Amino acid sequence: MGRIILTGDRPTGKLHLGHYVGSLRNRVLLQNEGNYERMFVFIADVQALTDNADNPEKVRQNIIEVALDYLSCGLDPEKVTLFIQSQIPELHEMTQFFSNLVTVQRLQRNPTVKTEMALRGFNGDGEDDNRRGLPVGFFTYPISQAADICFCKATTVPVGEDQEPMIEQCREIVRSFNGTYKCDVLVEPEILLPENLSCRRLPGTDGKAKMSKSLGNCIYLSDDPKEMEKKVKGMFTDPGHLRVEDPGKVEGNTVFTYLDAFCEPDDFARFWPDYANLDELKDHYRRGGLGDMKCKKFLIQVLNDRLDPIRARRHAYEQDIPAVYEILRKGSEAARAVAAQTLHEMKDAMQINYFDDAALIAEQAAKYRQ
Ligand code: TRP
Repeated sequence: MGRIILTGDRPTGKLHLGHYVGSLRNRVLLQNEGNYERMFVFIADVQALTDNADNPEKVRQNIIEVALDYLSCGLDPEKVTLFIQSQIPELHEMTQFFSNLVTVQRLQRNPTVKTEMALRGFNGDGEDDNRRGLPVGFFTYPISQAADICFCKATTVPVGEDQEPMIEQCREIVRSFNGTYKCDVLVEPEILLPENLSCRRLPGTDGKAKMSKSLGNCIYLSDDPKEMEKKVKGMFTDPGHLRVEDPGKVEGNTVFTYLDAFCEPDDFARFWPDYANLDELKDHYRRGGLGDMKCKKFLIQVLNDRLDPIRARRHAYEQDIPAVYEILRKGSEAARAVAAQTLHEMKDAMQINYFDDAALIAEQAAKYRQ
């Protein structure tokens, strides 16, 4: 059996450059390499609702944004099954069976859950809005995420490194299920992280550790060239690099982190032939005599070169939104068939497919017949 690749995103906002270098770009490469049996990419609306229960409209609006981001990056519905989580009810049954195999204590130790709880004020006593209580659905979402991964027996999950604890917890659930029910129905997935370290956690334009909507430091895939240019021009660099002649620092300098993440070997020949490669550019910046604005203009050219084809595809799909919903509907149907099959195998292993179980019926009949 070949690899089965699965990944997804919560529809809580448009996708940004952090998503792109952290995972999206990788997915398109994987898709085009074709070295897999099947590939699924999905929109995790049920998970988005775990901390947005009072705002389904936000989730509803962002489903199409995320779908457009996927398609515009080059995910091809002919090669990849694109679907919406809530359209696969089998996932909830799987989640229920898995939840019997996971302890509250284990969930409490999940580092991603801990961080996200603190971020959302879910660690309070529920008495006021800043110290909200913890929704059960949010607390248990790692279990539901394990169902997302297991329904198709995914072997390979390309995600950002913040998702590592989720994959680990899923692997434990798989071992526990197969062990408890003495079967090999489920498959332990592997995480697939970007090789380039600058891509694992792309900083925001303000230089803060992470690009995130709530910090207002994102460049979105759907930003037009003007917006993108404005954001790059305002980007955090080296605060000690006051005059052009001053030596500058490259480490922690957002412009250079972005160049590390986005630059390709022929970008210099195409856009800035004064330098042979990124190392030469960095050396000059370190020595002094190279202004921030020149580097930013180069970054803008590089980003436009990467984003222009994405913008063009987005524009085309935007002209036929019903077709985008149709892609998701068809994908959801296909994913559902796969989930139903796996759920059936799970129930067989648990011996709860009562009506299919002729041996059970015969045994009970013999027991009661006079
Ligand atoms: N938790 C992921 C995120 O926040 C989204 C997600 C849900 C996911 N289920 C998944 C990712 C299964 C990979 C596999 O981005």
